[in-house]
Amino acid sequence: MRISVTDLCNYRCQYCMPEDGVDKKCHSEILSYEKIEEIVKVASEFGINKIRLTGGEPLIRKGIVGLCQKLSEIEKIDEICITTNGTLLKSMAKDLKEAGVDRLNISIDTLNSEKYREMTRNGKLEDVIEGIELALELGFKIKLNIVLIGGFNDMEIPELVKLTRDNDVQVRFIELMQIGETANWSKDKFIPNDFVLEAVTELKPINIEGVAKVYKVDDWKGTVGLISPISSCFCDDCNRIRLTSDGKLKPCLHSSEEVDLSNMTEDELRETLRTSIFNKPEKHHLDEDISESIRNMNRIGG
Ligand code: GTP
Ligand code: 5AD
Ligand code: SF4
Repeated sequence: MRISVTDLCNYRCQYCMPEDGVDKKCHSEILSYEKIEEIVKVASEFGINKIRLTGGEPLIRKGIVGLCQKLSEIEKIDEICITTNGTLLKSMAKDLKEAGVDRLNISIDTLNSEKYREMTRNGKLEDVIEGIELALELGFKIKLNIVLIGGFNDMEIPELVKLTRDNDVQVRFIELMQIGETANWSKDKFIPNDFVLEAVTELKPINIEGVAKVYKVDDWKGTVGLISPISSCFCDDCNRIRLTSDGKLKPCLHSSEEVDLSNMTEDELRETLRTSIFNKPEKHHLDEDISESIRNMNRIGG
């Protein structure tokens, strides 16, 4: 279950967030940590065993370390993961580790500071690199997320794959999806992940089932993951459900379907989660048109 804890972010990545940011919601519109914990406990009865906290940027919500601690103490939850832009890891990674966080997926779309600043609308690449180094030292399992954008970072593919030579990380290329901010982007920015395999012919498949297909260069420490929602729809294998920061259950990233959980009793939660999981939409229709989701990416969290 992917749980977005806030729509807000300290960055404004061009493909995700409007330039002016988003309005801050008042306290009562955001799911409390107590309610999140209650929902996760009920979900864990239906086989949910992995929680991923997302945003916006999850680490900017006050008290997030305490939430991680609470969720990691739930009996049937095996893994707590966070998807983050990595800027705050320098100061928070140690506390997150102590609170029971197992894995971090960190966005790093380019290795060029100037391009990074431009895409994130003012982010500092050095902050993220220092955060990644610290997280590795602390023993986190790490995936590095790269949204592949034609004309922006496709020429960096070999250099990005090379990060797996000496580091035990998974470098993941994600096909750009048409949703929210990217709905009107030109076609040449959307490129298939096959480009990665063409750019680095040494990559050999090691596991090509699931959301990310995994490849590797022989004798290199890390792996390369290809997330290809457009060129190779993985909906059949998708076992994710999503919870938004305002308490809506989204059974599919790209569907308009949402169910408000925020005021439900425990019994109602149980029934709604069961029904939603069994009725998860069959697939997205990104190949035919843009996403049917009624939210921008920053309000879903990927
Ligand atoms: P792990 O496999 O546990 O590491 O996590 P993840 O890949 O689900 O998490 P992450 O937040 O790093 O997601 C990376 C990218 O994959 C984001 O752009 C997500 O939107 C995309 N993604 C993850 N799950 C789905 C899905 O169910 N459908 C689609 N279309 N994209 C997804
Ligand atoms: N297409 C693909 N991936 C996206 N992300 C955000 N917006 C998009 C999009 N339009 C990615 C981020 C992060 C993850 C949570 O979602 O880069 O890695
Ligand atoms: Fe923030 Fe992540 Fe969206 Fe960038 S992709 S604006 S870092 S939430």
